[in-house]
Amino acid sequence: MSDIPADPRPIVLTGDRPTGPLHLGHFCGSLRNRVTLQHGHDTFVPIADAQALTDNTDDPRRITRHVIDLALDDLAVGIDPSLTTICVQSALPALCELTQLFLNLVTVVRLERNPTIKEEIQARGFGRDIPAGFLCYPVAQAADSAAFRATLVPVGADQAPMIEQTHAIVRRLNRQVGHALLPEARASIPASGRLPGVDGRAKMSKSQGNALALSATEDEIRAAVRRMDTDPDHLRVGDPGRVEGNVVFTDPDAFDPDRDTIAELKARYRRGGLGDTVVKQRLETVLLDLLAPIRASRAAWAHRPDDVRDILRDGTRHARGVTQATLDTVKDALGLYRLAP
Ligand code: TRP
Repeated sequence: MSDIPADPRPIVLTGDRPTGPLHLGHFCGSLRNRVTLQHGHDTFVPIADAQALTDNTDDPRRITRHVIDLALDDLAVGIDPSLTTICVQSALPALCELTQLFLNLVTVVRLERNPTIKEEIQARGFGRDIPAGFLCYPVAQAADSAAFRATLVPVGADQAPMIEQTHAIVRRLNRQVGHALLPEARASIPASGRLPGVDGRAKMSKSQGNALALSATEDEIRAAVRRMDTDPDHLRVGDPGRVEGNVVFTDPDAFDPDRDTIAELKARYRRGGLGDTVVKQRLETVLLDLLAPIRASRAAWAHRPDDVRDILRDGTRHARGVTQATLDTVKDALGLYRLAP
């Protein structure tokens, strides 16, 4: 029996689907958090290409094309490959094996109750034709966290049901084997909440076409700000305006380092006397300043494709060892047949 030593430091893990460029919503919900957490934690960032296939079945190559783009986005925001293991999910067979074992620890009814899954089934128009892999992806995601022995998962609020599902599975396994074999990962969800889309809708999402990519050009940033809806009742500059739920203020709340100026602008807007144009100009500057260094770093990494490929290869190699070790421990604890050496 391989015995796992007590973890000396917490392990951070979070993945992303390579379905398109990462955007401000990802940055606010998770990326920013993981860049901070990588100092002082072992950090793993799987590129969840296998998970992305669960609702992109018809075009796997499209997912593959986005793998490098996603790695570039990660590196551009400051994920440091000497601190964080960036790896490719589909190249980690232990995750599939663990998923298979985990599938027996959850019921179909429980999977169907997952609110995020319900929302996504609606959004994708699956009706009754839900791919089984899609319904079960929270189980595979539980395997991601468990295989890396994650204790902290920095995610946006929409991922909370996935963490709960992970807890349920891990708890059930631990109960079955009679000791705390795998850790129960805690979610780290930013207090700022979910970032609305540039159209003001509740969630910034690529599939809803209301996202601003981290790799956006200056012109794209300006165009997005120009298009943003503000308070529809704020018709004249002198009218009092609504700040709550108004995207031109929620974005500065999330990204403007100058809190005092933002508080002052909000107060003036509420009172009346502050035009949308002024607020938008400020927002444009904030977003241009935020994204300029990210864009520059991304361009620099894009010029070093061999280095990026090496980072993925080395990271995945390391991740293979870690995930296989966990799988072996789980199989042993469950008492699966072991071939003689
Ligand atoms: N489901 C996550 C998303 O859609 C991606 C993901 C895959 C993930 N594996 C994970 C997140 C493990 C946290 C932990 O963005």
